[in-house]
Amino acid sequence: MPIIAPSLLSADFACLSEEIGDVARGGAEWLHLDVMDGRFVPNLSIGIPVIASVRKTTKLFLDVHLMIVEPVLYAARFCDAGADMVTVHVEADTPERITSALEEIHARGKKAGIVLKPATPAEAAEPWLREADMVLVMTVEPGFGGQKFMADMLPKIRTLRKRIDEVHPGCLLEADGGVDASTAPLLLQAGCDVLVAGSAVFGREDRAAAIRAVRGDH
Ligand code: DX5
Ligand code: ZN
Repeated sequence: MPIIAPSLLSADFACLSEEIGDVARGGAEWLHLDVMDGRFVPNLSIGIPVIASVRKTTKLFLDVHLMIVEPVLYAARFCDAGADMVTVHVEADTPERITSALEEIHARGKKAGIVLKPATPAEAAEPWLREADMVLVMTVEPGFGGQKFMADMLPKIRTLRKRIDEVHPGCLLEADGGVDASTAPLLLQAGCDVLVAGSAVFGREDRAAAIRAVRGDH
C-alpha cells in the first residue's frame, strides 16, 4: 500500500490543526510540508515556527520538503522543529554541501532525502543513493500547488526505482506535483512508495474519500 502524504500547501492556513486532524482521521500516514524561500523557487510559504506548531498538534510523520538555497544552513533547525524527514534539492547547493546537509539531518536522528527538479536527470541522484532515506521526484516545477502532472517524469521514476532496488532497497521513492486519482496509478506502476497530494486532498470536501481515491482504494 502506498503512503499518502497530503501537502499542507493547499490547506486552509487559518485553521491548520483542524485541517491536519481531518487528513489524519481520513487515513493519511504522512504530512508533507513545503518550505519556500523566494529564491530557489519564485514563491514563499512556511518556515520553522509553523512546523514547530504543527509538530505539537499531530503525530503524523512530518515530511519537510525544503525548496531553499543552501539547505545546509537550516536543515538542523527543521529537524529540531520536529521534522521526521527533511528533503533537500540537489540543485540548491554544491554536491559537497548537499552531502553536509544530509549528514546534519542524520546527526539529528532524522531521515534525510534528496529532491530532483523536472529538468534534473535520474543520474544526478547517484552520489547520494546509498545514504539517502528517500528520493523525491518533482512531477511539476516546484513552487506552486495545483499544477498539471508531467507524465514525462515517469521514465525517470522507473530508472530511479531500478537503481534504488540495485543499490539501496530501503530507500523510498516519492513523487510530488499533480498527483490525483488519475495520475497516482501511473506513479505506483512506475514504482513510487510515497505520493504527495495537495489540491487533490485539501481541495476536496471529503478528505477521507480523496485519500482513498489517490491510494486507489475505492
Ligand atoms: C510544489 C510543492 C507541492 C505542492 C503539490 O512545489 O512541492 O508539494 O503542494 O501540490 P499539488 O498536489 O496540488 O500539485
Ligand atoms: Zn512538496
